[in-house]
Amino acid sequence: MVDLIKKIKVLRSNFDEGVAQVEDKESLQELRNTYLSRKKGRITLLLKEMKNVSPEEKPEVGKKINEFKIHVQQKLDELDREIEKPKYKGSQIDLTLPGKQRYRGAPHPILKYKKRIEQIFLSMGFSIEDGPEIETDYYNFGALNFPPHHPARDDWDTLYLTDDLLLRTHTSPVQIRVMEKKKPPIRMINPGKVYRRETPDPTHIPMFYQVEGLVVDFGITFAHLKGTLEHFLKALYHEKIKIRFRPSYFPFTEPSAEVDIECTVCRGEESKCRVCGGGGWIEILGAGMVDPQVLKNVNIDPEKYSGFAFGMGIDRTAMFSFRIPDLRNFYENDLRFIRQFS
Ligand code: PHE
Repeated sequence: MVDLIKKIKVLRSNFDEGVAQVEDKESLQELRNTYLSRKKGRITLLLKEMKNVSPEEKPEVGKKINEFKIHVQQKLDELDREIEKPKYKGSQIDLTLPGKQRYRGAPHPILKYKKRIEQIFLSMGFSIEDGPEIETDYYNFGALNFPPHHPARDDWDTLYLTDDLLLRTHTSPVQIRVMEKKKPPIRMINPGKVYRRETPDPTHIPMFYQVEGLVVDFGITFAHLKGTLEHFLKALYHEKIKIRFRPSYFPFTEPSAEVDIECTVCRGEESKCRVCGGGGWIEILGAGMVDPQVLKNVNIDPEKYSGFAFGMGIDRTAMFSFRIPDLRNFYENDLRFIRQFS
């Protein structure tokens, strides 16, 4: 009896394989004949073998054969219904349906934008430098001429890790690190992530990108700063973009300026513009002449050398460039958003 039960198992798996191979009406009919033909069908042959089974075992074996037969009949009936459907009927495939699209990966818009900025500065002979995102109080503030407890520190909403360690709030500490390592002439940019304790909203996020720039050499003046930034912003936006310098304050530059570009969304023509608030200008970077005290802090003689520095928010600038209404879009990882930039 064991043999016969094994045989039923083998036949059942053979049958299931046969089902998977059915392609059309003919092959279905063939399968039906193989198993259910009255004279030589495999099930008929199985039933014939019943006569060799002992009377006690007959009910059990009979039941198994019956179950198998029901399985075969059900499957064949199912296939009979399915065979008319397109999967089985090559001629019914609708060739006009759109195909499956495959998407190619693409760089994130922020990284793409960062590359563009790097290209412009590389073409002006700047080097690209790097620095740590976890900084000491000294590099983020002290060496940049922020005295301890000076109220200017409040403008940078700092995330402290310990009393002395923090997540850098700007890329300016890289100015110090580079000047400690290299002697002038220095011409460098440093694009990287910075962190501030901000509640996310359309124009603020706690992690964003900045690009720092620093030039130190003999006889560097504010005119060099202006010329460099004008060239850069025209290359980044377009030749005719309007640029404005406003006096400002940073502890590490003197004099300091904030730089605005004309609003890329309304060009100052809409009083209710969401981007510029109707003013027609958007602030995109801070800049200034390196404060002599900062040069002294890194043992560069301010009587001999002078320099300028600037820092720009990459996300904000990209947002204005691509006319994206909400900074958070960049970090939500919605592929429908990201793919628009591929
Ligand atoms: N680090 C300043 C900021 O985060 C920008 C800046 C950089 C200003 C270099 C002047 C010079 O706002």
